[in-house]
Amino acid sequence: MGKPVTGARETTSGVTPAIRLRHPVEDDHPLLVAVVDEWWGGRRVRASLPRLWLQHFTGTSVVAQRDAGGTPVGFVIGFVSPDHPHLAYLHLIGVAPGHRRKGVGRTLVERWAEVVRARGASRATTIAWPGDPAGLAFLRAVGFAVDAGPGTRALYGTAAHTDWNREGDDQAVLHREL
Ligand SMILES: CC(C)(COP(=O)(O)OP(=O)(O)OC[C@H]1O[C@@H](n2cnc3c(N)ncnc32)[C@H](O)[C@@H]1OP(=O)(O)O)[C@@H](O)C(=O)NCCC(=O)NCCS
Repeated sequence: MGKPVTGARETTSGVTPAIRLRHPVEDDHPLLVAVVDEWWGGRRVRASLPRLWLQHFTGTSVVAQRDAGGTPVGFVIGFVSPDHPHLAYLHLIGVAPGHRRKGVGRTLVERWAEVVRARGASRATTIAWPGDPAGLAFLRAVGFAVDAGPGTRALYGTAAHTDWNREGDDQAVLHREL
């Protein structure tokens, strides 16, 4: 995955520079963990990004950067489920605030989808906080649909599960075909 990929489209202000996509390496961990809380608008996301993700899941994760030696401007971390090999799980996706709405997030998801599809997955799943309209809008825009099936209730206007990871943790579950 070393070759540069033109991931972004033209914007009204001109042509968006190409972004390079690559698999992360363990050395990316301190860089990413240092920025994720800011990228998520102050939410404590760093607890969801222990080093093990950059040790054991790099082959099913993708980093975007503007130039060869540059710092990441976006990343997606996920895996193909060992228990359900047809299913890929998207754990985290983030794009640096200064690089948003230029197609970087969509490009990362589509490359991630290619990677996990090549490993046998035909469906993807993820979770999102139902009170995050921007995150949900993005996930819908890249093909995910909210599960409104049994066990869900309307929370913040979205079908979601209560107490998903722990008491008080509301989460919408989303799926996408690959
Ligand atoms: C969500 C996030 C990854 C989107 O990254 P991005 O590079 O800006 O996304 P893209 O430019 O590829 O957007 C693709 C589409 O998603 C939708 N979208 C993206 N951001 C959106 C927002 N803030 N509000 C509404 N829709 C949005 C739009 O339909 C967009 O297409 P458009 O620009 O042609 O309208 C980025 O805002 C981010 O890192 N947010 C903080 C972390 C986070 O919330 N992660 C997702 C958790 S579920």
